[in-house]
Amino acid sequence: MDDFLFSCNQDKYIISADGTPTFYNHSFNACYHSLRDGALKETLHKHIYPPMHICKMLEKETLYILDICFGLGYNSFCTALEYYKAGFLGNIHIISPEIDKGVLDKISLFKAHPWQGLEIGRILEELRKDSCSMLLDNIKLEVIFDDAFNVLNTLKQRNIHFNVIYHDAFSRRSTPRFWDLDFFLDLYSLLLNDGVMTSYSLSKATINTAIKAGFFVYVYNSGFCQKSALFLKSTFNDKNLIPAS
Ligand SMILES: C[S@@+](CC[C@H](N)C(=O)[O-])C[C@H]1O[C@@H](n2cnc3c(N)ncnc32)[C@H](O)[C@@H]1O
Repeated sequence: MDDFLFSCNQDKYIISADGTPTFYNHSFNACYHSLRDGALKETLHKHIYPPMHICKMLEKETLYILDICFGLGYNSFCTALEYYKAGFLGNIHIISPEIDKGVLDKISLFKAHPWQGLEIGRILEELRKDSCSMLLDNIKLEVIFDDAFNVLNTLKQRNIHFNVIYHDAFSRRSTPRFWDLDFFLDLYSLLLNDGVMTSYSLSKATINTAIKAGFFVYVYNSGFCQKSALFLKSTFNDKNLIPAS
């Protein structure tokens, strides 16, 4: 059993710096999270808290969130728990593309998952069966097991727009299409005017591509992990954000 716990289809189970589990994916030659920041810390400080606290998403009645891509579920599951803990009473609909259904098996292998308060067993079973699960009474998760580029086309056709987009694909080296101008133009068109997109990438190439797509790009330093990026559709004044040039 122990051998199985430490690998899944040759992919390695790893404990990251903050003690939370993640995986190394040998097909993409990449880790699902920054080992140095820690999987949970990175999720909270780069993706979940900036929209909640800086962009005031807690004040909305309903939130549409696009989680690119589902991976080990950290962004989607932490969204549910953190909005619940903050007393958010509105509805949240999370849509998350994911090409690899095997991620559900990886999550099942976590010895201790960091989402106490969510019924992870039930949720994984529902995702396996229906690709959809109520994480909590008011928070729905729909994982679309398909290529994200097809999913985005469908979302554009359905004219769905998002308050928050988590851009959390593998790196440019592993998955370059997620970082090119066409993809950023699609993300721009899917984001509501007062919405926000988060990313761990602050590379010059990412910043330039995002600016070309029309975004205002800001550097955010939580002080808890490496700096990250926020992409907005208009200028934004906040003491925690520095415009990226
Ligand atoms: C960095 S991981 C996402 C981590 C995730 N956000 C989390 O919180 O655990 C990137 C994910 O993108 C998925 N992926 C790679 N190429 C894809 C594609 N073309 N369409 C959809 N998903 C893709 C991978 O299978 C992997 O699960």
